Amino acid sequence: MWSFGVGIFVAASLSMILFTASTISVNPPSNVERIDPKTLHLSGEFAEHNLGTTVGSDGSVTVRAIATQFMFLPRCIVVPANRRVTLRFASPDVIHGLLITGTNVNTMVVPGFVSQVHTEFTRAGDLLMPCHEYCGLGHSGMWANVQVVAQDEFKPGPDGRISCAQR
Ligand code: CUA
Repeated sequence: MWSFGVGIFVAASLSMILFTASTISVNPPSNVERIDPKTLHLSGEFAEHNLGTTVGSDGSVTVRAIATQFMFLPRCIVVPANRRVTLRFASPDVIHGLLITGTNVNTMVVPGFVSQVHTEFTRAGDLLMPCHEYCGLGHSGMWANVQVVAQDEFKPGPDGRISCAQR
């Protein structure tokens, strides 16, 4: 009986999330850019090999990550200190939210849209990026690490890609 009640509650919560996502125009706050949540992991910008940190030929730093039940992919992202960084997020399942501790980064990640945030990390160090929107039973375990490294330690490979250092 107890588990039945919990099941009803979870089903009601999830259907409410899906209902508001699909019927009311719930948009991310900064810009409106659509993406198909059903296929985003298969090809295109948010395919697995494109996730993480990329430095463009013009020197621009872009981080791409997927927020999904119940993790961020990748689980760790590396960014340079004192340099403009563009963060781009997408969700294939339900609404997530994220913030990066001690910074102005704070956004919702709504299925069907790309959430984009520009920021500059002012000092090197390890930060946490927790999910802050209830997204299901594993919500409290959903977080990623952000490694902010000094400019001279930020050395992307020849392909412009850079991953977290193992510590
Ligand atoms: Cu994802 Cu809470």
